[in-house]
Amino acid sequence: MRGGVSESFRLDLLLVVFILFLCLQESSCSSLNNLKGSLIMDINEDTLLLETSPTATPQPLLPLLAPSPLAPFTNSTSPKLSGLCTLNFAAVKSMMAVTSIDCVAPFAEYLANVMCCPQLETTLVILIGQSSKHSNMLALNGSLAKHCLSDFQQLLVSQGANDTLQQICSLHPENLTEGSCPVKDVHEFESTVDSSSLLDTCGKIDLVNECCEETCGNAITEAAKKLALKAYDISRMDGPDVLSDHTTRVDDCKRIVHRWMASKLEPAGAKHVLRGLSNCKNNKVCPLVFPNMKNITKACGDGMNNQTKCCNTVERYVSHLQRQSFVTNLQALDCAASLGLKLQKDNVSKNVYNLCHISLKDFSVQVTPEVSGCLLSSLPSDAILDKTLGIGFVCDLNDNIPAPWPSMSQLPASTCKKSVRIPALPAVASGQISFKGLHIWSYLLLVASMILEVCCIYNAAILSY
Ligand SMILES: *[C@@H]1O[C@H](CO)[C@@H](O)[C@H](O)[C@H]1NC(C)=O
Ligand SMILES: *[C@@H]1O[C@H](CO)[C@@H](O)[C@H](O)[C@H]1NC(C)=O
Ligand SMILES: *[C@@H]1O[C@H](CO)[C@@H](O)[C@H](O)[C@H]1NC(C)=O
Ligand SMILES: *[C@@H]1O[C@H](CO)[C@@H](O)[C@H](O)[C@H]1NC(C)=O
Ligand SMILES: *[C@@H]1O[C@H](CO)[C@@H](O)[C@H](O)[C@H]1NC(C)=O
Ligand SMILES: *[C@@H]1O[C@H](CO)[C@@H](O)[C@H](O)[C@H]1NC(C)=O
Ligand SMILES: *[C@@H]1O[C@H](CO)[C@@H](O)[C@H](O)[C@H]1NC(C)=O
Repeated sequence: MRGGVSESFRLDLLLVVFILFLCLQESSCSSLNNLKGSLIMDINEDTLLLETSPTATPQPLLPLLAPSPLAPFTNSTSPKLSGLCTLNFAAVKSMMAVTSIDCVAPFAEYLANVMCCPQLETTLVILIGQSSKHSNMLALNGSLAKHCLSDFQQLLVSQGANDTLQQICSLHPENLTEGSCPVKDVHEFESTVDSSSLLDTCGKIDLVNECCEETCGNAITEAAKKLALKAYDISRMDGPDVLSDHTTRVDDCKRIVHRWMASKLEPAGAKHVLRGLSNCKNNKVCPLVFPNMKNITKACGDGMNNQTKCCNTVERYVSHLQRQSFVTNLQALDCAASLGLKLQKDNVSKNVYNLCHISLKDFSVQVTPEVSGCLLSSLPSDAILDKTLGIGFVCDLNDNIPAPWPSMSQLPASTCKKSVRIPALPAVASGQISFKGLHIWSYLLLVASMILEVCCIYNAAILSY
């Protein structure tokens, strides 16, 4: 049955959509055949031929995360709002819906670093930016910030988001204020920075080049520095505030710059820019926490020759890591480099990645070594909600790339100079384009049906997990 699907669906899989939550209903298994029959007919052969590749067949993911009922989507609660917040929530209604799905209750923690928190942060920036069109203020005062944050959270939770987002994304009322930035008034902002050149530079960013050249990122920093300098105007030198850290001040002013940009751009355009910028930042660091690696040093350290024992230990360690979070392909590279360097410092000089066949996908959430994990693309797109199927998101399945063992003498390459062949940003972009001819839901459903099969097989295992 599975073979049939694979035969007719041999995409060069840069991307595949994964559906979570699918093993919930017993009926999933029985309805599978009907579903699949109609799906394959849905898909236009010509579209597929263009993408045909004799290699990778999609390997669906069944996340180890215990599935949880779809209740949040089917049974929205009504939010209890303070009635005191003056932000224009209507301006970002659809963006908040997307955020709720990106931060969906049971998976928020696993998606926090790559999807949930960046989207949450972006939505907040755009919310305040759009609201400033009326208030002329790019920040809220303390009391307003409290009410608005509470309302913001209530609105998200009522649409399925996790109710501990404040902890998960370290979100505080201060995130809605100006912090230590001395400028929050739109007119003062515009008379301080060269706003038209800022918009020219950042209005439309090239997501591929931005991470290397930081054209927009630098323009934002320059603008933030100008704003921060205002704190040192003689007229404002009035208190202990002056002593606070200049770097913090510049960072706080960057938030003001982001909000101003979000007031000048359409919400969708602003999101493109802001998520692009946060991706650049995110992809530079491995978000995983490495627990004590004494076990590996003992089993694989110099002088140890039992390969089986060494690899068992490495695999156990990595399987521990991959339960922490979904990561992007570039983050997986960062993680492989960090772990490799730490091991070498601890006298593990042999390339255990090679020895034990550790690949990049091993650093992201997955189930078993036989079932491919989900490594997100370097520009992760938002999660998708289907009311009947559940939550899906796009994974980079071109992930069976051996984890590169770092060289001690050579620092890990920057994001711009990664020498490993991974689906680079342009490839991801073209992958998305190539799916345009395909009805997205047909595609989703097809993958879903494949997962359902796995669900049926693994159902018992999950229930007992
Ligand atoms: C909503 O929840 C109630 C009780 O929890 C349940 O009886 C009802 O069927 C749910 N509605 C939907 C659409 O799932
Ligand atoms: C929200 O996230 C926390 C932390 O990951 C988790 O413990 C909790 O179960 C989640 N809430 C729901 C309703 O899934
Ligand atoms: C809120 O501010 C803190 C501290 O500046 C920061 O670490 C965190 O990422 C911010 N959270 C959001 C969602 O903006
Ligand atoms: C905070 O801002 C709101 C709206 O601009 C205003 O009504 C309120 O008086 C302000 N509160 C404080 C403490 O400044
Ligand atoms: C190290 O190995 C011991 C014994 O197998 C195990 O209990 C422990 O969890 C391991 N520690 C880590 C960090 O993997
Ligand atoms: C190597 O380790 C494995 C697993 O720990 C063990 O079963 C085997 O006997 C060891 N081989 C040697 C030669 O010590
Ligand atoms: C690594 O090996 C060196 C030389 O044998 C030794 O001095 C050092 O203590 C070892 N480091 C660790 C972490 O085992």
